[in-house]
Amino acid sequence: MSLPEIDLVVYPDECDAFGHLNQASFLSLFERARWEMLLRGPGMDVFTRVGSWPALRKTVIDYRAAAFPGDVLRFQQALTHHGRTSFTMRQTARRVQDDTLIASAEFVFVCIDRQGRPVPVPREFGEFMHAHPESSGNVQRLMVHGVNLAVEILGEGPPVMFVHGYPLDRTMWRAQLDGLTGFRRIAPDLRGMGQSDAPDLGYGMNIYAADLAALLDALAIEEVILCGLSMGGYIIFELLRTWSARVRGLVLMDTRAEADSPESRRARDTAASLARERGASAIADSMVPKLLSPETLADRPGVVDQVRTMITRTPVAGIVGALAAMRDRPGSESLLPTLAGIPTLVMVGESDTLTPPDQARALAQAIPGARLEVIPGAGHLPPLEQPDEVTRRLRDFLTALG
Ligand code: MLT
Repeated sequence: MSLPEIDLVVYPDECDAFGHLNQASFLSLFERARWEMLLRGPGMDVFTRVGSWPALRKTVIDYRAAAFPGDVLRFQQALTHHGRTSFTMRQTARRVQDDTLIASAEFVFVCIDRQGRPVPVPREFGEFMHAHPESSGNVQRLMVHGVNLAVEILGEGPPVMFVHGYPLDRTMWRAQLDGLTGFRRIAPDLRGMGQSDAPDLGYGMNIYAADLAALLDALAIEEVILCGLSMGGYIIFELLRTWSARVRGLVLMDTRAEADSPESRRARDTAASLARERGASAIADSMVPKLLSPETLADRPGVVDQVRTMITRTPVAGIVGALAAMRDRPGSESLLPTLAGIPTLVMVGESDTLTPPDQARALAQAIPGARLEVIPGAGHLPPLEQPDEVTRRLRDFLTALG
């Protein structure tokens, strides 16, 4: 079940001389939508009942299209971070008539008492927001390795853990999570992304890997098949350093074993500055064209929109943390020959320019017994760009593991 969507009408007195909804009014509509949502849930006094007030500390708004008097805007809200005393909400406003995305925004709140001291986020508020995960009823929030992770778990059978790329979230695996019945599908949002907590500090490939190892322990999983895309692959290499005895099979998609070159490291720092200064939407602007194949960009606006939305809702702390983790990751070339005992499938989009097919071929050749599959019509994100094809090929591989 989703959180209530709130429809609000734009009035002429909220618009500027050219008839556009003005920025101050936009802020107040976002705020009105939040209170309306609470009114339909735990009540508008959910904070004051416990002597707390959600003080707004930071706002990042990405204005994407103009709205005019008479437009009905549909506001959707999601909790993207829930700390002890602070929380972050992402809100989007779409015009109901044509479903145009008008604006998306991130609001960071700290709960304070009358003296301005931070106090815990009211339990009832957290329960209301978490009881309504965005995508489906299979999402759990699990506290592991000192971080609260959102984890989608579906089905019964041999466990398969799906590790998403940067700066994406578990919803990139939607088709595979829904389609691979007969397996226990586990898809976490990495720390700093999706609906998982986004601490300001403490990111590294070893940290992500330790989060996932702790998650598998918390779920009492002894043996697992790992499937990671791009940064998800970098994390899996890290996990394999200490954990390979528990890995039953491996799928490495659109990823590489090499560390960053000096030039790529500099590019990570530039991207981190961009994220800090201009927010996640600037990262989306620069990345979306590189992530998808020309076919996807031209013919599949729904996929383009989905990827853009995923990136735009990623907390800046998570983006900056992942960029530093990727910049500082060690090379994993020497690990590859040691994976001889693990059945491995290497997959790559035919038009992937970030980790091109030649790189995937070299990766497959370095892992004894690994097979390479190239997905036509896909760029860097085959699970989203060619969902049925990828699901079918994954099913074949997983089924053959027995
Ligand atoms: C990813 O998809 O995870 C990133 O493109 C990885 C990277 O930038 O190295």
